[in-house]
Amino acid sequence: MQTKQPLKLVVLISGQGSNLQAIIDAITNKQLDATISAVISDKSEAYGLMRAKEASIATRILTKEQYPNRQEYDLALTKIIEEYQADLVILAGFMRILSPEFVKHFVGRILNIHPSLLPNYPGLNTHERVLAAADKQHGVTVHFVTEELDAGPVIAQATLQILPNETTESLKERIHHLEHQLYPLVIQWISKGKLLFTPRGILLDNQLLPANGRQIIVQ
Ligand code: GRF
Repeated sequence: MQTKQPLKLVVLISGQGSNLQAIIDAITNKQLDATISAVISDKSEAYGLMRAKEASIATRILTKEQYPNRQEYDLALTKIIEEYQADLVILAGFMRILSPEFVKHFVGRILNIHPSLLPNYPGLNTHERVLAAADKQHGVTVHFVTEELDAGPVIAQATLQILPNETTESLKERIHHLEHQLYPLVIQWISKGKLLFTPRGILLDNQLLPANGRQIIVQ
């Protein structure tokens, strides 16, 4: 009998790579049926590159200085990702804006994780903005990437209640905890064929997801 190969991931990072680590750990612990073919960073000093090496995953560095413009950069990035025959591109703290051409090329097979309950607070500094607005809740979103920043179809969200005396640091830590559960879970849905990107919308277990995706409770 022919067995299907595990889902091939290419993970794009710029920094710490704690989400990358959560994905590596989920694969090691057999909670996620996937392999990471490569980790690509736009920053040579990104700590996530060490995590990848530690796990014997191929790494590539593509700095913006190596290319004359965004289009050339994104073309080179596309080529490398295709060389690794990625089924899925995982943005995990990749801090570059991607060109419409790049996004179109990978549409339906590129995911991002964002530290807010989208559509609230797209962009940077979400914890600061949530605290300044005195919100009662905050959370994380995993979504498909489209041309508009942080605005692609939402797959899943996890929420936390803001505590008294909450700081940006405490929020960062609590949000990371949610992210590290949510991202591997969503990737596993794709690996198992439970989650489909269709012209009608996103189907999870054959049901169309609402605009805010599936709400997940993380302990
Ligand atoms: C995460 O908070 C993620 O939501 C955002 O960038 C951060 C990356 O963190 N897109 P890490 O590098 O995975 O630790």
